[in-house]
Amino acid sequence: MLKLTNIVKSFNSTGKPEDQLTVLNGLNLTINDGEFVTIIGQNGSGKSTTMNLITGVIFPDSGTIELNGGDITKEKEYSRARYFGRVFQDPMMGTVAEMSVLENMEIAIRRGRRHSPIRWGFKKQHRELFINALKEFDLGLDKRLNAKAGTLSGGQRQALTLLMATMPQLPSHKSIRKDYVKFAYGDKEKAKEEVENAYKEGKARFLEKKKEILADKSLKKAEKREQIREAFNRFDNEVRKFDVTKPLLLLDEHTAALDPKTAKRVLTLTDKIVREKGFTTLMVTHNMKDALTYGDRLIMFAGGEIVLDVKGEEKKKLKIEDLLNRFETVN
Ligand SMILES: Nc1ncnc2c1ncn2[C@@H]1O[C@H](COP(=O)(O)OP(=O)(O)OP(=O)(O)O)[C@@H](O)[C@H]1O
Ligand SMILES: [Mg+2]
Repeated sequence: MLKLTNIVKSFNSTGKPEDQLTVLNGLNLTINDGEFVTIIGQNGSGKSTTMNLITGVIFPDSGTIELNGGDITKEKEYSRARYFGRVFQDPMMGTVAEMSVLENMEIAIRRGRRHSPIRWGFKKQHRELFINALKEFDLGLDKRLNAKAGTLSGGQRQALTLLMATMPQLPSHKSIRKDYVKFAYGDKEKAKEEVENAYKEGKARFLEKKKEILADKSLKKAEKREQIREAFNRFDNEVRKFDVTKPLLLLDEHTAALDPKTAKRVLTLTDKIVREKGFTTLMVTHNMKDALTYGDRLIMFAGGEIVLDVKGEEKKKLKIEDLLNRFETVN
């Protein structure tokens, strides 16, 4: 769950009081796990500002931002990066132009991690995952794995960014343990004890097993390596059960720069990924039709606040005219 409470954010580019611009004026917004929310609102109504606050690009003047019960209001952008996947309007922003498709995807996997532990089979395992995902996109990307991202079309680049933003994360064991405590509701001490004990026991079992394998004279070198890898994976899976962070997907007009056909394709893909992987998603769009077609909740921003918030059946009944009328009355 993502919860924004009483968020106030103003900008002042000149320092003069008359230039003070209050963009968000006590914004309250709760997004439940698994919700797919479409967001509309006039230019300058604070949609991107809200995304920037959620991801820690900027900080609120007052108010709190909570994720899964943990307060992340003051957390730096890099340290909360692993909780969010983000796709911007500009296809140039999500990928590194000078790096290949594969290199970009590898970076995505390591998002928010300062050091990536060397894991057996890490590269091979993920290479396969990438390629299969790219094939599904049907944009010819699977045949351009070594092409520089800068040479791709806008649509291809957005599709790649979308995939990167929704890649399964592999946080380090340390992050998993830390987040388990940080996001635990209730007794944090107890949560800490629980995760640390499970970790210690799992690690001890793995090391014991490793010693056994290494001492086993009937095994060849390659067999030993294989068995140690299996034992490690078992330990790794045990630790990953404690991974409580479910990434949130933030899409800020991510199809606005694409031609209608490609935009439709990327949107269909977005919907598919969101549904299949159960991502909690916020999608900003100026396209009323898309805002109505996709998602199960719709929010309208105006005057620094949320002026419309509908979900389920009520959303399904909404028509483009209703939204346009609403736009007229609030602005
Ligand atoms: N870093 C900043 N410094 C100064 N003003 C800013 C900054 N970021 C945003 N603003 C101002 O805040 C207001 C809201 O901007 P924001 O980008 O959130 O709007 P938006 O709803 O995303 O609009 P659009 O639909 O055009 O993308 C605008 O008037 C903008 O100029
Ligand atoms: Mg914007």
